[in-house]
Amino acid sequence: MKKIAELFSGKAKTIYTTEDADKLVMLFRNDTSAFDGERIEQLDRKGMVNNKFNAFIMQRLAEAGIPVHFEALLSDNESLVKRMEMIPVECVVRNYAAGSLCRRLGVEEGLELTPPVFEFFLKNDELHDPMINEFHIRSFGWAEESELKQMQALSFKVNSILTQLFANAGMLLVDYKLEFGRFHGDIILGDEFSPDGCRLWDAKTQEKLDKDRFRQGLGGVVEAYEAVAHRIGVELD
Ligand code: TMP
Ligand code: ASP
Repeated sequence: MKKIAELFSGKAKTIYTTEDADKLVMLFRNDTSAFDGERIEQLDRKGMVNNKFNAFIMQRLAEAGIPVHFEALLSDNESLVKRMEMIPVECVVRNYAAGSLCRRLGVEEGLELTPPVFEFFLKNDELHDPMINEFHIRSFGWAEESELKQMQALSFKVNSILTQLFANAGMLLVDYKLEFGRFHGDIILGDEFSPDGCRLWDAKTQEKLDKDRFRQGLGGVVEAYEAVAHRIGVELD
């Protein structure tokens, strides 16, 4: 499928229209951002690794019955996806305390959260993605009641599939962010699932294998993403 025109360019991906009105091309760039775009660097191979990582995860989720926008890998850095109407809300599931949860509530990193915690954030870099709740979503009309219930249910279904997938490869899925959209009246999973939008720790050593390596200046960012990909069986080259 050929790219026709650039539709949107975000912090790490660029979206193009195609000759099919229902399909878009999602291009994964090497740009890596943190702190809502305050810091951006180019990391060699990252676009390719995240594109293939995302394709692998989306295929596993689709097989397990999650409706996804991913359709096919097109090249090292590009995937074909369904054109959805995005909902400007981010769904975060947390199995262990980390990141903003620790800062907000003063809990120690690594605390196991039983049951897992679910949070909504508004997708808005200028406002630094503020945390919101169901009342904000309904009042401001970002999504309807039934849609936010579906987003929440799908986020938890993804949790049971992916905590198992990563556990089988010796890793803890600490937390992650999902974005959903509307496609012909249904709620489907959009955006991407890669180590840019989740936290993954080695189950034995607790070593961080995700974008916290970039946020915290630990180095070896793409090497860690590649190691995770290798452990779960993503073919990169
Ligand atoms: P947080 O600890 O910064 O709230 O993030 C929780 C998880 O969600 C973490 O894995 C990073 C991911 N996330 C993003 O990738 N982008 C975002 O804009 C937000 C709010 C979270
Ligand atoms: N994805 C967001 C950003 O690039 C938040 C983060 O990862 O720190 O700024």
